[in-house]
Amino acid sequence: MENETSAIALEARDLTKIYRMGTVEVRALRGVDVELREGELVVLLGPSGSGKSTLLNILGGLDTPSSGTVIFRGRELALDSERALNLYRRNHVGFVFQFYNLIPSLTARENVSLVTEIARDPMPPPEALAMVGLAERMDHFPAQLSGGEQQRVAIARAIAKRPDLLLCDEPTGALDSKTGILVLDAILRINRELGTTTALITHNAVIAEIANRVLYFADGRIVETRRNAVQRAPAELAW
Ligand SMILES: Nc1ncnc2c1ncn2[C@@H]1O[C@H](COP(=O)(O)OP(=O)(O)OP(=O)(O)O)[C@@H](O)[C@H]1O
Ligand SMILES: [Mg+2]
Repeated sequence: MENETSAIALEARDLTKIYRMGTVEVRALRGVDVELREGELVVLLGPSGSGKSTLLNILGGLDTPSSGTVIFRGRELALDSERALNLYRRNHVGFVFQFYNLIPSLTARENVSLVTEIARDPMPPPEALAMVGLAERMDHFPAQLSGGEQQRVAIARAIAKRPDLLLCDEPTGALDSKTGILVLDAILRINRELGTTTALITHNAVIAEIANRVLYFADGRIVETRRNAVQRAPAELAW
């Protein structure tokens, strides 16, 4: 689906992010340029503290840069408007984090419904849960699901509003490799079947093989970009 000539979905130019704590400055991003093409699956790799999460949060409108611009489908985000960022997140972005943040007192289906109730053109929650292989577990509570299943509920919740962008920060970070494969399979299926432009942060270099393209971070910058000649299936990875 994705190729080097697809339209650019999301673009960021010369992003910097400086955290100031008292007199100490942390330069988390030092001039990042990035483009994500429609339907592309990009993996972000790099050492702890190199700025991966900071970039992902800025691309998703959860955080704002100290300088630089973010352009979604040709329109610059109004980074100074909380309301504009809210609408951008609500209408276009799905997030998945390392910890699933499900509501314990709600079933899988109800957790997904929380999002679909406020979305413009949502999928029915059972359809989103079926996409991640949980059609049989819809009425289970989080405590009745394994870690990998809970993460797949979190993915269903993120994609049920049919986001244009799916941003995943270490989605398999808390999972063993076998469970991680199921979670990556779910993310890949969404990327392929819905054409959702996807960015995924991982510490595990092996996972980079599922991507179209890999961005290598070091010290607040993207230091290398590589295009994979072959995209491997999660089950083929040598974890
Ligand atoms: N809210 C914050 N306040 C101050 N400094 C921060 C804040 N968030 C991140 N940083 C600093 O910014 C730098 C980049 O952090 P970031 O979380 O983006 O790294 P990362 O690549 O995601 O690391 P990890 O792989 O450990 O998750 C780090 O030095 C971090 O300590
Ligand atoms: Mg991080």
